[in-house]
Amino acid sequence: MLKDDILKLKKEKNAVILAHYYQDSDIQDIADYVGDSLELSKIAAKTDAEIIVFCGVNFMAETAKILSPTKKVLLPVKEAKCPMAMMVTAEKLTEYKNNNPDRKVICYVNSYADVKALSDVCVTSSNAEKIIMAYKDQKILYIPDKNLGLYLKDKYHLDIEVWPGFCCIHNNLKPKDIIKMKEAHPNALVLIHPEAPLEVLRLADYIGSTKGIVEYASNSTHHEFIIGTEEGILHPLKKRNPDKIFHLLSQGLSCFDMKLTRLEDVYTALRDETYEIIVPEDIRTKAYESLKRMLEMS
Ligand code: 13P
Ligand code: SF4
Repeated sequence: MLKDDILKLKKEKNAVILAHYYQDSDIQDIADYVGDSLELSKIAAKTDAEIIVFCGVNFMAETAKILSPTKKVLLPVKEAKCPMAMMVTAEKLTEYKNNNPDRKVICYVNSYADVKALSDVCVTSSNAEKIIMAYKDQKILYIPDKNLGLYLKDKYHLDIEVWPGFCCIHNNLKPKDIIKMKEAHPNALVLIHPEAPLEVLRLADYIGSTKGIVEYASNSTHHEFIIGTEEGILHPLKKRNPDKIFHLLSQGLSCFDMKLTRLEDVYTALRDETYEIIVPEDIRTKAYESLKRMLEMS
């Protein structure tokens, strides 16, 4: 069976399989670790494995490589990319920085190494609030997710400029989706990822990262939840809470790139050691500084 072949190869090659919560359930089930962006980057930073197979999108595998340069980091599907990460380029950011030298650049982990290399610090949705608050008295540029930036700007009245990037899944959520779902499920709590627009976040009972949502629902005495994030999260939610009820906030909450990975791809990645992530050393060392600062501050 493919699953057994993957586990055998993984052992032979001293590899570890990391999977994001948005991966298909069969990928999550063969992974050694399933988590959010922050947890997975922490694991990548300290693993003893020689090979890291990253089931996610390419900026995640690239982050693992930046943190663990001596490891071979593999992305099973070469084309798996986050559209949001492509919305900011090193060229455009350099231009902005030249015109605004007084702004600290706080960079969402959904970005590429050359952009991280130009940033003061990285954040994920789990630690953005804490890290941004450490810069609260300074002028900030938050890249590339406008929604998370606008949410924190609104919450704490900070001097933040936001880059016009967004996640095509979360940015599509609408207040009317919540109103409709609340009418149908009046006892459910609404849990939303902060990549959603501000007018949607204002209607949430809880705002948090994927890990935050899983923890909140698992620790809550409530039994019913409306979930405003990518559908892959339903797998860990249901696994950890078989007696609770979860409704997805709207249709179409499926990230095309996250869903590209198949078990066959994981097997081939391990067998052929493809597709290896390479980051030029001069960029890696600079990008490492912004990730290291994040890990120290979170
Ligand atoms: P987190 O895993 O940090 O919640 O991020 C969600 C996401 O959109 C990853 O692509
Ligand atoms: Fe990018 Fe959104 Fe897909 Fe995450 S869910 S990889 S932020 S497009």
